[in-house]
Amino acid sequence: MSAVRQGFSSRIGFIFAAAGSAVGVGNIWGFPTQAAQNGGGAFLLVYLIMVVILAYPMLVAELTIGRLTKRNPVASLRALGDTAQWQKIGSLVGVLGILALSLILSFYAIISGWLVSFMAAPFFSLLGFERAASWLTEFSTSRNLIMMLIFLLLTIKVVGSGVTEGIERWSRRLMPLLFLLLLLMTAYILTLPGAMVGLEMYLVPDFSQVMNPDLIVSAMGQAFFSLSIGVCALMVYGSYLNSEENLPKTAAIVAGLDTSVAFLAGLLILPAMFVAQNNGVEIYTAEGSLKSSDTLVFTVLPSMFDGMGVAGSVLAIGFFALMVIAALTSAISMLEAPVNTLTEETTLPRNRAVWVVGGAVATVSAVIVFNFNSLFGLVVTLTTVYAQPLLALVFGLMLTWVLRRDRLLKEMQEGNPELMEGVFWKIWPWYVKFVCPLMMLLVFFY
Ligand code: PFF
Repeated sequence: MSAVRQGFSSRIGFIFAAAGSAVGVGNIWGFPTQAAQNGGGAFLLVYLIMVVILAYPMLVAELTIGRLTKRNPVASLRALGDTAQWQKIGSLVGVLGILALSLILSFYAIISGWLVSFMAAPFFSLLGFERAASWLTEFSTSRNLIMMLIFLLLTIKVVGSGVTEGIERWSRRLMPLLFLLLLLMTAYILTLPGAMVGLEMYLVPDFSQVMNPDLIVSAMGQAFFSLSIGVCALMVYGSYLNSEENLPKTAAIVAGLDTSVAFLAGLLILPAMFVAQNNGVEIYTAEGSLKSSDTLVFTVLPSMFDGMGVAGSVLAIGFFALMVIAALTSAISMLEAPVNTLTEETTLPRNRAVWVVGGAVATVSAVIVFNFNSLFGLVVTLTTVYAQPLLALVFGLMLTWVLRRDRLLKEMQEGNPELMEGVFWKIWPWYVKFVCPLMMLLVFFY
């Protein structure tokens, strides 16, 4: 274990980093496309409910586990139990969380590689290198492999520089830029012809869809993925958080920022789809449903940008830069948890551990790239639909059933001395202990 453990230098540093983890491809691509396919405003409504009633309480639980011990996720989960058996179970859950997280990174790096490609392609086109531009935008094993490696190298570079110098510093630089780009692009798209149709579709709920089981399950999955819950990424960030900070409040800020970005991205993407339609791009399939999510970002939007001349190239670069920034700050959090675990559970220094973990993730990613059709969807479903909600549930249960209540109370009182007087403490422990598991079981069997 390293002698002096690193940590975030300030609360705002933590908030940028944790929001950086949460705000990712899931917000800017996943949320708007799911909303577009699931009744627009109806999805938005159910998603917001899911964030408040399920994801937020579980986010508090995960951050608390990390900060309680200020150790890596495996050690943190191990330390919750008083008996040897619970400690073993805790370690096992931690290892499963880290494995699921590394698998998420292995597919996330492939998608992020595409985003880097689509960001770079307009530069090559503007310079007249058409062959390079089409290599970047056409699906091929070589493109997928090389761009995935480039993205992972970038992630390794940041994480290798440490928590304060790498993660915090880059999150502070990139997150404000992301907000700015998002606001500028949304404001511009909303002025274009056709945008209002998309806006209406997004904001006016079709209440007949609200109880649709598919919609509810998608909204829950999206909320867990978007808030990075259940796979130790935010647990490790929690372990770098100062004891003076109020956990429920800090978690609420992170969840609020993440949800705002998802909401804003919806204001950009749905109107953009109808702007594209206005410019003659097909956005509906022959059966009358909206085109699927991958076609949307990698076909519909680029063909809209193509039809807009130089302004379109600038927009395309801006849009994909936004996505790359979001993806990078999320990928950083995914690499940090296994790297931190390796440095603390073995004697490996950080600069070696990043390469060991990064190399392993790159290898798994490469296997997925070479077997794309059979593995990609499988890994996505396995990790995000099953592992994330189930592990989040186990984290919540371990914190509220296995950890002694007086230890939990003591930890939650750090940075929040009036905890016992407020409503949070009256509701939250029982809520995570009984209500969350019941609700999740219900959604699963539903
Ligand atoms: N929250 C990220 C997104 O919305 O793209 C994805 C993510 C990051 C999932 C970190 C899981 C994780 F641990």
